Amino acid sequence: CGIVGYVGNSSREAAGYSALDVVVEGLRRLEYRGYDSAGVAVVADGAISSRKKSGKLSNLIEELEAHPVPKSLTGIGHTRWATHGGPTDRNAHPHLSDGGRLAVIHNGIIENFAELRQELLAKGVTFESETDTEVAAALLGDIFRNQLNGDGGNLTEAMRLACQRLEGAFTLLAVHADQPDVVVAARRNSPLVVGLGDGENFLGSDVSGFIDYTRRAVELGQDQIVTITADTVEITDFFGAPAEGKEYHVDWDPASAEKGGFSSFMEKEINDQPDAVAQTLLGRSDLNGKLTLDELRIDPELLKQVDKIIVLACGTAAYAGLVAKYAIENWCRIPTEVELAHEFRYRDPIVDSNTLVVSISQSGETMDTLMAVRYAREQGAKTISICNTNGSTIPRESDAVLYTHAGPEIAVASTKAFLAQITAAYLLGLYLAQLRGNIFSGQIKDVLADLNKIPAKIQSILDNAGPLRELARSMKDEKSVLFLGRHVGYPVALEGALKLKEIAYIHAEGFAAGELKHGPIALIDDGQPVFVVVPSPRGRDSLHSKVVSNIQEVRARGARTLVIAEEGDESVKDYAEHVFYVPETPTLLMPLLTTVPLQIFAAELAGAKGYDVDQPRNLAKSVTVE
Ligand code: G6P
Repeated sequence: CGIVGYVGNSSREAAGYSALDVVVEGLRRLEYRGYDSAGVAVVADGAISSRKKSGKLSNLIEELEAHPVPKSLTGIGHTRWATHGGPTDRNAHPHLSDGGRLAVIHNGIIENFAELRQELLAKGVTFESETDTEVAAALLGDIFRNQLNGDGGNLTEAMRLACQRLEGAFTLLAVHADQPDVVVAARRNSPLVVGLGDGENFLGSDVSGFIDYTRRAVELGQDQIVTITADTVEITDFFGAPAEGKEYHVDWDPASAEKGGFSSFMEKEINDQPDAVAQTLLGRSDLNGKLTLDELRIDPELLKQVDKIIVLACGTAAYAGLVAKYAIENWCRIPTEVELAHEFRYRDPIVDSNTLVVSISQSGETMDTLMAVRYAREQGAKTISICNTNGSTIPRESDAVLYTHAGPEIAVASTKAFLAQITAAYLLGLYLAQLRGNIFSGQIKDVLADLNKIPAKIQSILDNAGPLRELARSMKDEKSVLFLGRHVGYPVALEGALKLKEIAYIHAEGFAAGELKHGPIALIDDGQPVFVVVPSPRGRDSLHSKVVSNIQEVRARGARTLVIAEEGDESVKDYAEHVFYVPETPTLLMPLLTTVPLQIFAAELAGAKGYDVDQPRNLAKSVTVE
């Protein structure tokens, strides 16, 4: 989600500024962070005025023209990417409490919201929406009014007390009619920056929220609260101890600010991946390593009866499906097929009420996938959608949905949504295994612990990508690149090839390494670049040594071998022109790491060719025709 806050003083008013203009302008720049609904709240004449609307920001702007808010110098605004609760007017932010005198906007996921909601319901609080945000707003309102007696100056203190109760990841901004010149914000694991002005101060989920007004920014630390007025910025921790933010100068131009300073949305999204995986894991297991996928509203008894799983998807999502097959079959021992959605319904597939169909789609709107899901439902299958876009058609037409919390993906070629889809598929596989008693709870706990280590490992790949980028630039005139992989490395090879086709327009093919000798090896010629995704030597040893043999086979025929291997795997060095190491992780989870170098390679190479990486020719982000 995108978040903006603003407070200005009378000098700004004299200069013709209003909080609403500044906030709406900030939201326009932040709209890439979420565009399923938007809302604002301003403090004026001793009251809060709030407007919110589902759909794009333009809907909110129309609403504000039809029903203007009074002029004000204090305001907050939000553009939403739904997590809890669909993208409706009612679920849009701000959420009000304390009799409409307090307005709150939020980015993130509050993990213990169900528990807090019960507690507040017992106190007689009523709720209008299904969101975790409204629970945070109600908690804050309750503390402000009942615990601190609402004596007119305690929004900051109320925020501290509220944050001590909240679990999960959040950025919260609040304004109160009793304190008209103040915006209070809190941050834990979700982004928030302060913008310093002259007679005005700003808050934003990133600097693009205020880059048109100031270049002076302050970075907040974890678990900090900031109170801004027009002339002051005060930072403390959640317990009131003073804290310091780090001031820096923003030298990005406004256009690149939206991309976080990266050259393209795709580069930004590749770099967002540690967060995309972490957010998708967040709140879905308890401390004992038990999966709690409450959103999967399908009777567990029915899930226990499932005797076949069919994964349906297109493009990159279908490769996530292939990874899902390896994991689900391994953990659940349920036969799992993966099929391109557009092939599925035209071949009279065998589907009945014991079939579970898992569709995977970033957009939730891909027509091929939607039609396949509809067909499966007609045949009596149970349907679960793994989707990144809350409230989109495929989840609405499925029995249940497991959202990937990757945030909006703007670049046409999918990156962070792919890793989030794989992550969600792992969670689903583990959940089914837990439900059916296929694996020990200790084992689930171990896999979850390994999954939780993935974000930091992705980060280390991103931080050490210099040599890979250099190689990519040097290869910009290649005519063809091949990719080999085996086991879960096979879908990774397919995805590596697809990325290169999509954005660099280079002929690229992915093969199962074992299939090489059955044909593709005839393609190998002097200088032919071949990427090889090598499984961990700690996994099934025969698998590793077979792939190492494959590297030797292509090299013996003149190929340039570019190898992705696990740190510490010395055995590949002698046969590789370049080795790119990824951190150790269990074999089944390796795609979350081995995909990343291939994404970077494609993006860097396409950039070096001068292509528009975000909007490749002939492609669309969501294909809503069959
Ligand atoms: C289009 C896009 C691909 C994407 C595929 C599936 O073809 O160009 O990048 O992988 O659709 O999209 P979905 O939104 O269903 O994941």
